[in-house]
Amino acid sequence: MRFYWSGNEETRMTNYADFHRRSIEDREGFWSEQAKLVDWQSPPQQVCDYSNPPFAKWFVGGTTNLCHNAVDRHLKDRADQAALIFVSTETNQEKVYTFRELHTEVQRMAAVLKDLGVQKGDRVLIYMPMIPEAAFAMLACTRLGAIHSVVFGGFASGALASRIEDSAPRVIVSADGGLRGGKAVEYKPLLDEAIRLSAHKPESVLLVDRQVAPMPLVEGRDRLWGPLREKHLNTSVPCEWVDATHPSYTLYTSGTTGKPKGVQRDTGGYAVALAASMKHIYCGNPGETYFSTSDIGWVVGHSYIIYGPLIAGMATIMYEGLPIRPDGGIWWSLVEKYKVTVMFSAPTAIRVLKKQDPALLSKYDLSTLRALFLAGEPLDEPTAQWISAGLGKPIIDNYWQTETGWPILSICKGVDDAASKFGSPGKPVYGYDVKLLDDQTGEELAGGDVKGVVCVEGPLPPGCMQTVWRDDARFVSTYWKQLSGKWVYSTFDWGVKDKDGYFYILGRTDDVINVAGHRLGTREIEESISSHPNVAEVAVVGVADQLKGQVAMAFAVVKDASQLTDEAAALKLEGEIMKLVDRDLGAVARPARVRFVTVLPKTRSGKVLRRAIQAVCESRDTGDLTTMDDPAALQQIRDLVTG
Ligand code: PRX
Repeated sequence: MRFYWSGNEETRMTNYADFHRRSIEDREGFWSEQAKLVDWQSPPQQVCDYSNPPFAKWFVGGTTNLCHNAVDRHLKDRADQAALIFVSTETNQEKVYTFRELHTEVQRMAAVLKDLGVQKGDRVLIYMPMIPEAAFAMLACTRLGAIHSVVFGGFASGALASRIEDSAPRVIVSADGGLRGGKAVEYKPLLDEAIRLSAHKPESVLLVDRQVAPMPLVEGRDRLWGPLREKHLNTSVPCEWVDATHPSYTLYTSGTTGKPKGVQRDTGGYAVALAASMKHIYCGNPGETYFSTSDIGWVVGHSYIIYGPLIAGMATIMYEGLPIRPDGGIWWSLVEKYKVTVMFSAPTAIRVLKKQDPALLSKYDLSTLRALFLAGEPLDEPTAQWISAGLGKPIIDNYWQTETGWPILSICKGVDDAASKFGSPGKPVYGYDVKLLDDQTGEELAGGDVKGVVCVEGPLPPGCMQTVWRDDARFVSTYWKQLSGKWVYSTFDWGVKDKDGYFYILGRTDDVINVAGHRLGTREIEESISSHPNVAEVAVVGVADQLKGQVAMAFAVVKDASQLTDEAAALKLEGEIMKLVDRDLGAVARPARVRFVTVLPKTRSGKVLRRAIQAVCESRDTGDLTTMDDPAALQQIRDLVTG
């Protein structure tokens, strides 16, 4: 099936291999054409400055504004068309904001933030449920040239505190609470505790009172959005034109160490990358509706709930609620009602729907929908087959990361009519010079069945991370290697490539796990568990799970074993540890089980053998264990998981 971006005659005629080749070999020509997809206050003087690798500066000399491109520039042609469609099945609210109304609300928010002292370059941390004010806050920040840092509403105090400390925001925007399956999650106590834990204190906290949870205010610091908004009903706040390289936001993500990294994104490169992806990958047209089921706390929410669709002049649906409430047809009813043309979700959500009545897939008129894009975790073939047959629409798996901000691997439907292959997110996307490298030698692997690390030769294309927030050295040392004089970025994913150039992703090379599409660092979970007074040592591994892709499994050594008298005592301690993780990081990071052992399997040099633990939990071969110190340690784990 072909569904090209209307009027895209010139690329339609082009063969994708040529299109991709040109994006690498004629980088300047290719990206200067894409740059025309967005508005510039002053045009770029240089497409890419790569004089200080691996740092790439895109569209140098250009000035622009993300909020202008997402909102203001559409006022001319589509002021009265839908821009933001808010649907909450938690509060039963539904509200459509036109581009004109969105423009007004964003300016009100920008005016309030300005009153609170926010200026260009200041950080604003946004800890919000999926409500329109969260979108207003993000867009108001980029309007002012302030740098937003959205923290997923499912994270708790400890995770939030480390992000407050690192981003050092002048203002935090939050709300009384979020709702999930009819239950309120109180944000305010978590936020107050996080601010208490953080060495950095914000000057003000701006709070949206949705009246779903109690919200005691801290005198002199906490301000209510409602009354402040009233003061600015008609205030206009112009867009601050910023350099293309000005940071638009930071978004924290997990890696090998316990401390999350602030992925820093630019402005001009990101605007261009998203606009181009809406055209070449997602094939969304102005005036249509885009529905991404993610959350604004994750990268998909940034790129494809807020900025991408709006930049493309599309309406975007912001959905608060579960995929199965009131029933498993809720998303498809929204596709029918709002004539959604492009939908984006995660494999876990589809696996959840797969447990519901299949008739719900054919109950609604889905004729407007062109394709369903899935990303964030491996898409297993049965799930892909089930949803593809049920919807009768193309299912497009795409692979990317918080770091890149937009797809690395996909079938770019706007410029390529190649078919998808089940199990593969497709081929390298234009702009990415993807290489499969041997993890030992760094040699490029030709393909076939040989497993390698998926890497990208620098420069990364526009829109990808500029650096780690305030830590250039960490950016270079974490992600980059120089091989035969060339700078190469590692995705930390294993992959294989078939003879047609399609990649297959085989999981992470580091200690990152993927639970229901949520990226988590096992080291962060270990740090949280270790703070329990009776835990001496712990190892957390990701274990394959039918529904969630992976779950976290913890094996702990207790300090005082006399407390573990029987099964009931062990269960009590397990419960305490789970509560601790909930309070510290959030329920998303809670291990499925915490089991107790007297010793952890280690190498003779003292390194915990996490891979071997994982293999035992998944009933796989543990591989070479010659460096293991005490084989009985692994046997304890084997007995626990098989017993
Ligand atoms: O391991 C890969 C997995 O998710 C990681 C990135 O997660 P995050 O930073 O949260 O960004 C998600 C953006 C969609 C990757 O390193 N991953 C992502 N997409 C896929 C995937 N694994 C397999 N197939 C995918 N399509």
